[in-house]
Amino acid sequence: ARAWALVPAAGQGSRAGTGVQPKQYRRIAGHSLLEHTLHALVQVQALARVLVVVAPGDPLRAAHLPTSLPQRVTVQAVGGPTRAQSVRNGLAALQTLGAQAHDWVLVHDAARCLVTPALVERLIDRCRHDAVGGLLALPLADTLKQQRDAQPGSVDADARVAQTVSRQGKWLAQTPQMFRLGLLCEALAADLQDVTDEASAVERLGYHPLLVPSSAQNFKVTYPEDFALAEAILRARSE
Ligand code: C5P
Repeated sequence: ARAWALVPAAGQGSRAGTGVQPKQYRRIAGHSLLEHTLHALVQVQALARVLVVVAPGDPLRAAHLPTSLPQRVTVQAVGGPTRAQSVRNGLAALQTLGAQAHDWVLVHDAARCLVTPALVERLIDRCRHDAVGGLLALPLADTLKQQRDAQPGSVDADARVAQTVSRQGKWLAQTPQMFRLGLLCEALAADLQDVTDEASAVERLGYHPLLVPSSAQNFKVTYPEDFALAEAILRARSE
């Protein structure tokens, strides 16, 4: 079975601040987030091809993607209104590129630009003989609080603790997340509400994905202060 990477990069990045370009195109340490991400992925020899999913008619794509992409990278403007829909559309595009149902697909957020080839290879090594597949994840280090009367979607300035949730056995899900194309298509054919990662969709089918220990450096650049931290890490690595 071959392994393919699918990079959803069709988001607006609204949490990174208003009026800014989508975060995958923000530049840090001389390159866009997306370019840093692609640079790491193309170093993984086990990946047959890296498919980037951008938004249809994305006006920034031409200006922000390098004109000469690495050979194994393909860009398709088939993004959807949510991340899960962008991934679903990307899976269909992978099939037109020749991916088979038993091939592995590694879905990786464009915004996790600090991923390293070694982390991706660790995931592949751990999952390639597994019946289900799995994801990079990090055992939770902080104490976890459940907010009282939490409303969906918003962060409330007067938030109060309802209770402390045990962090025992809790992990933070990262990407890449690696599953067989056929299983991912089946999982993402269902209703995508509340599907924030591929593993959760696979879990709904009754499977138990492997948790592969990762690094805290593979965080998702989301909030304004994340850009400076990501830049510092990238600069330190290139020294
Ligand atoms: O917004 P969030 O940080 O969850 O986005 C994670 C990844 O999913 C980003 O790389 C973003 O570009 C992508 N995405 C997408 N299509 C959407 C929304 C997000 O490809 N409609």
